[in-house]
Formats: sequence, structure tokens, C-alpha cells
Amino acid sequence: MARIALLYGGRSGEHDVSRASAAFVLKNLHPSHEPVLIGIDASGTWFLQVIPAENLTALPVHKDESQQVHVVPGVGLTAANGASLHIDAVLPILHGSYGEDGAVQGLLESARIPYAGSGILGSAVGMDKDISKRLWARAGLPVVPWRTFRKENGINEKEAMSLFTELGNTVFVKPSNAGSSVGVNRATNPKELVEALHHAWKFDRKVLVEQAIEGRELECSVLETPQGLQAFPPGEIIPANSHSFYDYEAKYLDPNGAHLAVPAALDADMAQTLPLLAQRAFRCVEAAGFSRVDFLVDDQNHSIYINEINTLPGMTAISLFPLMAEAGGVPATEMIEHLITGAINESAYREERNYTTGL
Ligand SMILES: Nc1ncnc2c1ncn2[C@@H]1O[C@H](COP(=O)(O)OP(=O)(O)O)[C@@H](O)[C@H]1O
Ligand SMILES: [Mg+2]
Repeated sequence: MARIALLYGGRSGEHDVSRASAAFVLKNLHPSHEPVLIGIDASGTWFLQVIPAENLTALPVHKDESQQVHVVPGVGLTAANGASLHIDAVLPILHGSYGEDGAVQGLLESARIPYAGSGILGSAVGMDKDISKRLWARAGLPVVPWRTFRKENGINEKEAMSLFTELGNTVFVKPSNAGSSVGVNRATNPKELVEALHHAWKFDRKVLVEQAIEGRELECSVLETPQGLQAFPPGEIIPANSHSFYDYEAKYLDPNGAHLAVPAALDADMAQTLPLLAQRAFRCVEAAGFSRVDFLVDDQNHSIYINEINTLPGMTAISLFPLMAEAGGVPATEMIEHLITGAINESAYREERNYTTGL
């Protein structure tokens, strides 16, 4: 039996998704563990939460100052009264900025607390679409052609025109560090492109302009287990209800915005290739524990592209990550056990590793 802290909520736009993911993880945590709930409010403050008596679809974040949790470097977690709060491992069930980008991973490492999933480097790289694509491209993995534009340099009309010659008639514009399709738009002419860039620059000073791929969106769950890295049969997202792509509305606001197919209907070749590519994409960005690797597949020529990696994928009851793992033979409770084991092993490695000069 171990004391397992679920860290959820947080400062990102995905605060509410995180609360739903945490409810799913709590429900599926092996009963031999003692859960400790830590809710992070929208300003980033941590509060201990009471374990709800019933199953909820999203865990609440109550802001009771007497329950504030402090992270103490070199020591661990302490309660508001200064008493130490012993935790065997933290499951960061956070999505987006501060949770998925290495920030909270660095904080936990400084406090010497074991935590699940990717470390500082893998999280930071996985969060930045430009950096992850640079690494994949360098490793010979297939990515959609793209260009990066920084806010401070702006864009002029000539450059905007030339992008369509370079990338095709339709392009996608997206912030390098964001998620949930926030700030993502299609553009089919220079005016739309400039507007889309200015919109995306509100969310990140670095923005990608990519060739648009008309085709399928397939995703693959990757999990580290004692037997090695496992990648499960992929699932598919089929945007519906007039959403031309998997935009924010289709993801979160329209209950019929997309249809999820688990497993996806794939020919034998694709069924074999995607999991292998997902594993290579995972290793290439130094991810750990688990991730969801997302693909775009061109309808015309069936070319496969790695679109992005999510190092803290959605874990709600209707999220693809747990559905694909379960369909692939690893139910949620077992999947979470692997994450906990990974957290404890990785922390043991960090503690043993010789940080001194050895002199
Ligand atoms: N190059 C592209 N071609 C076609 N559709 C794309 C492309 N890039 C993004 N999209 C669409 O936009 C959605 C969000 O973009 P994505 O790169 O997945 O960012 P996010 O991190 O916000 O999920 C995708 O799920 C897909 O529907
Ligand atoms: Mg995506």
C-alpha cells in the first residue's frame, strides 16, 4: 500500500479537463493505495481536498487556506500547519502549461518527490510542437512540412503569399506551446493567414504554419511497462456536426462534435506501422511513463505524419488514452499501477545517481 497523491486542476486552460481526468484516475486507483487529493486552483495554489464519498465526473478544487499544501525543496510536501505530508508518489493529472511542460516536474524533483510520466526534458520538448517536430524530422520520422513565425518578427504580405506556394493551398496555423486546439486555425489566403497568425501569437510568441493534411486523425497510446514500451492499437477521431477539424468546440463544447472509434479500422500495414512510429516518436522526445501520439494520414496518398505528442493525455472516462489501453488489453487500474511503479523506479534512479564529481 502506498500513499498516492493526485495533482489536478491547475493554471492552464485545461483546468476542468484535468478535474475530470483526476476523477477517472481516483475511481480506477487500485484499492490497496491510499489516495491523497491535491487540487490546484486557477492561480496555481495547492490545496488538500477531502476524498468525495461518491464517484464524481470531475473532482472539485476547494480553496480552504487551512488546507494549503506547500512544496519544500529537498524536503517534500507540508500541510498548512507545517506538518510533513508523506507521499510515496504523485500522479500529475494536469494538462497544458505548468503541468505538462516540465514546470511541475521540476518542482517535484526539487522536493525529491517521485512522480509519474515524463521528466522535465520530455515534458518540455513534448509541449513545444516546433521542437518536437525538429527532433522527429532529424530522426527521419515523418512530420508535416512547417515553418515557424515569431511574434517579434511579424510577417509581411510577400512572405504570407510565398507560404502558399511552399506549403499548398490550405495551411494550418497553431501556437507552438498550447493545446486543446486553442489558437488553431485553417487559412486559405494571405489575409486569413495573417489574421490566424496574429490570433495564435496571443497564445504563444512562436507559431507554426503547416501544410494542411486532408485525411484521417489517428492516435496511439504508449505505455512503459516492466516488459518494455507498449503501443496499443490506434483509435480514430472523426470530426462531425460541421466541424471541419477537431477544434475547441468539437473537443469540449459540442457533445456530438466528434466520433471516436476504438480501435480504428485500419489495414494490416497501417495497424503495424502506427504503433511502431508512436514508440519511436515517444523515445525521440525523451518521454517517459505514458503518452498519446497523434497522427495525420493523407486520404490521397496514405502518407502518415506524426502530428504531436501529449505527455499527459486526457484521462477522462471518454478519453482516447485509457480507452485505447483498455482495448489493447491493459485496463485503467493496471495502467495506473505501471505509472506508479515507473514513478518510484525513476525516483530511486535519481536518488542513487551520483551528482557529485566523485572526488
Ligand atoms: N497540418 C494539419 N492538417 C490538418 N489538420 C490539422 C493540422 N494541424 C492541426 N490540425 C487539426 O487541428 C487540431 C488541433 O491541432 P493539434 O496540432 O492537434 O494541436 P492541439 O495541441 O491544440 O491539439 C487537430 O486535431 C486537427 O484536427
Ligand atoms: Mg491535438
